[in-house]
Amino acid sequence: MKKSSSLNGLGKWAARLCGAAALIALAVPAAADTLSPTGRWTAYSRGAAQLPPMGWNSWNAFATDIDEEKLLASAQIIIDSGLAKKGFRYIDIDDGWWLRRNQPDGRMVIRTANFPSAAMPDGSTSFRPLTDRLHAMGFKAGIYSDVGRNSCGQIYGPDLPNQPQGSIAEREVGLYGHVDQDIKLYFADWGFDLIKVDGCGLRGLGETTEKVTSGRFRAFTPIVDSDSLGRTDVAAVRKLYTEVGDALARHNPDNDFIFSICIWGAADVRSWAKDLGSISRTSEDISPNWSRMLHNLDSTARRPLYAHPGSWNDPDMLFVGSGEFDTDHLTEARSHFSLWAIVNSPLMIGYDLRKAPKALMDIFGNERVIALNQDPAGNQAVLAFDSGDVSIFVKTLANGEKGVAILNRTSAPIEATLMAEHLKFLADADVDLTNLWSNERLRFKGQQKFKLAGRETLVFTARGTRRLADGIYLSEQPGSVNPAVDGVTVPEAEPLVHRALLPWQNTRATREPPRYGGWGGAQADSSPYGQQLTIGDKRFDTGLGVLANSRLEVRNAGYGRFTATVGVDVSARDRSQPVSFAVYGDGKLLTKTKPIKFGDAPVAVTADVRGVKLVELVARTPRPMRFSDPVVWGDAAFQR
Ligand code: GLA
Repeated sequence: MKKSSSLNGLGKWAARLCGAAALIALAVPAAADTLSPTGRWTAYSRGAAQLPPMGWNSWNAFATDIDEEKLLASAQIIIDSGLAKKGFRYIDIDDGWWLRRNQPDGRMVIRTANFPSAAMPDGSTSFRPLTDRLHAMGFKAGIYSDVGRNSCGQIYGPDLPNQPQGSIAEREVGLYGHVDQDIKLYFADWGFDLIKVDGCGLRGLGETTEKVTSGRFRAFTPIVDSDSLGRTDVAAVRKLYTEVGDALARHNPDNDFIFSICIWGAADVRSWAKDLGSISRTSEDISPNWSRMLHNLDSTARRPLYAHPGSWNDPDMLFVGSGEFDTDHLTEARSHFSLWAIVNSPLMIGYDLRKAPKALMDIFGNERVIALNQDPAGNQAVLAFDSGDVSIFVKTLANGEKGVAILNRTSAPIEATLMAEHLKFLADADVDLTNLWSNERLRFKGQQKFKLAGRETLVFTARGTRRLADGIYLSEQPGSVNPAVDGVTVPEAEPLVHRALLPWQNTRATREPPRYGGWGGAQADSSPYGQQLTIGDKRFDTGLGVLANSRLEVRNAGYGRFTATVGVDVSARDRSQPVSFAVYGDGKLLTKTKPIKFGDAPVAVTADVRGVKLVELVARTPRPMRFSDPVVWGDAAFQR
């Protein structure tokens, strides 16, 4: 799909942003209050995404060329093949279902030529018969909209079939100005259980774009520029999505809904979606090729602390079955599926299952890999080794075992060594691996070499002797750590994401910039800027890295003691202010260090957390800082 990166009305818009910046500057002292402990877990917990949602979506299979028959055919195959029993539950309609917004009542009208069951005897349209049918089959049903006035298909794919018809107003099918009306219609009246809310209407319709000057669309002053956070009005985008989330809560009193935020990693969404939605896209659209798969994976890979039961990072839907993930590329297809599983991505099949050969159905149906994704502890895998050639992901499971994926990102065969240390297991005790594709078992001590074919991912569960015999490192339970305040004052793009060509742009630009905000955010087993956690000469291979002036909420599952070694990280640049580290239990101060300066020796912290449900870790400087320094909660752990 072609996407233009040009913005219009920029002068006016920049002036507005400067005004907003001035307000933010004035607001700094008040913002410091967010470091006060609340005693509450504040990450998003509305909705029904306790585990990453699984299902099927029409977009990767059919783009906008969709109809009821295609949808129901894949749904039936999901039942007949046993995939439904394995957890694939959501059947989602993407772009292409709408005919127009009726005038003047604003009621959305369904394209009954493609969805005949939506035609009501009185001439109106309703998806209720279709959602009733899906529910009777045991599924949940999903619908699609846009947070702006117009859809992605209208703005970026005018040649795609099934575009809305009629006057300008009739073609304004997005939620903007109709949030309450549409959400009520889709959920209370039509019975949907999920909505994916895209954001194309927030960009691409500036006053001077051809779409507006030609008289075909109403202008919408862009508030998103996917190439530039500096040209994006993050607060305005967040506000629009908040309104949708509030309407969803209003019209779903049973909480049985999923709010899928689709703003493609733009507008710094990787920082705030954990407070607002059930799943949130961390990147631009996936394409069925290896390089884009790596790009989308990377956009999620370094964000484990920003995903929790209730709210997950979404690197986009599966392309297993197509292009470089088709039956001629089963190594790549298995890699794609394994990686999505281990980073707790939603598992949404994007394939026309009517034509799926057994080899593909076997991939979707691998129960061991599905179980890795659906583990109840909800810990997104942490990168235990991170490079441009090989990545090793480790995910701590509810039973204390580990999931591990070793990814050969290159096209050539490669050798990789898995260390007991990567797993936080003792090096002198046996480690037992089970290969989740072949079911083969293997035992090693210390380290084990593997030969990986080009683009192969080896994925295992691992049993061993935990380094912390009677406790858990906080970086092993990222699903129970919420960076309520991560100290980032100005969103910056993360430079470590593989910069694949944008398919709709190729090299017709000067560069492919780092584009997804989140750089400097809280990290498990790494500094906020991707380096080893280090205080002076002391390096830590485990711990939490976060900027000063931050507050982390940590759920405590019955442990008695919190321990850590704290200080200012060697990567600090400002270094002008000391940092004090405080530990709170259910809102009450348990312990606090003296102010620690850059260069000071690491300080040991312990706190009695018996009976405490929520621990808060606050690192604070005496005065607010424009750009806070990185600090280390080294070896941070709960012990019995
Ligand atoms: C955007 C989204 C895709 C898909 C299309 C539909 O590109 O990111 O996932 O929904 O819109 O037009």
